[in-house]
Amino acid sequence: MKAIRIHQYGGPEVLAQVEMQRPAPGVNEVLIKVHAASVNPFDWKARAGYVKEFFPLTFPATLGSDVSGTVEEVGPGVARFKRGDEVYASLGLEGGGYAEYAVAKEAIVAEKPGTLDHVQAAAVPTGGITAWQALFEVAQLRAGQKVLIHGAAGGVGNFAVQFAKERGAYVIGTASSRNHAFLHELGVDNAVDYQQTRFEDVVHDADVVLVQPPSQELATKYGVRALFYGGHPSSSNLAEIAKLIDAGKVKTVVETVLPLEEAPRAHELSQSGHVRGKIVLKVA
Ligand SMILES: NC(=O)c1ccc[n+]([C@@H]2O[C@H](COP(=O)([O-])OP(=O)(O)OC[C@H]3O[C@@H](n4cnc5c(N)ncnc54)[C@H](OP(=O)(O)O)[C@@H]3O)[C@@H](O)[C@H]2O)c1
Repeated sequence: MKAIRIHQYGGPEVLAQVEMQRPAPGVNEVLIKVHAASVNPFDWKARAGYVKEFFPLTFPATLGSDVSGTVEEVGPGVARFKRGDEVYASLGLEGGGYAEYAVAKEAIVAEKPGTLDHVQAAAVPTGGITAWQALFEVAQLRAGQKVLIHGAAGGVGNFAVQFAKERGAYVIGTASSRNHAFLHELGVDNAVDYQQTRFEDVVHDADVVLVQPPSQELATKYGVRALFYGGHPSSSNLAEIAKLIDAGKVKTVVETVLPLEEAPRAHELSQSGHVRGKIVLKVA
């Protein structure tokens, strides 16, 4: 099969197209024929070696956490899926998505939202799951609360905004002014231009803030619960999210679609830090 792999840490140029053997599904695993895979910032951070202290790659490595496709084959013990099912999954940090076929544990795979094509569906898993778990499982966001979402136009933020609104929260999102009309389309009550305004000057009494790893020292000083949270693959989260999407309550945002072989270009774009929604690699 065709795959994009890396054999060493480095710039986007280390992403190389190779021919490799198709993986076989083991016990409780499914083999997915990948139609589309999306790009997450973790991919270029891993490629560049920025996260090797806590997640060293084993070379050659196939990056890519998010896939949407059809079940090609199921391994022993798989009960929920059969060949031909349309599915989507977050494969987690191990990746494997930048390829024509990817293996996933049955437990992390979910039925693709029926109203989305594979390109749109591939934009959902990691961003959607991260937003869901952070807001609802960690922060326990409730209706009527005020939430501040940084990076609201990005792959995680756009879902966080939509999920929080759907839950009945008051939502403030940060983005540059170019994205403010977009944030209002997503449903924010208030958009803050981080390039013009210090958010701490205009946002007060937020119950929940979705942010980069916060300072424990400052959190203690102000009596705030602060933690770094790492999302984990979850088919039940994906099933909940699919329901919202199919009910027309949450939309997916794909800014750029590129063929798989243009993964280096996709990484350059992601690394710029200004993607709106997601970049998706079309595989099949
Ligand atoms: N812990 C976890 O489990 C987990 C999971 C997924 C992602 N992450 C991390 O979470 C972060 C966001 O991920 P993502 O996929 O949403 O990234 P992304 O899609 O690349 O985010 C791009 C967005 O960030 C906005 N942005 C850039 N600088 C900003 C600033 N100073 N203030 C506010 N918005 C800003 C941009 O809006 P403008 O163009 O308007 O500036 C753009 O829309 C990344 O660092 C990623 O690695 C963590």
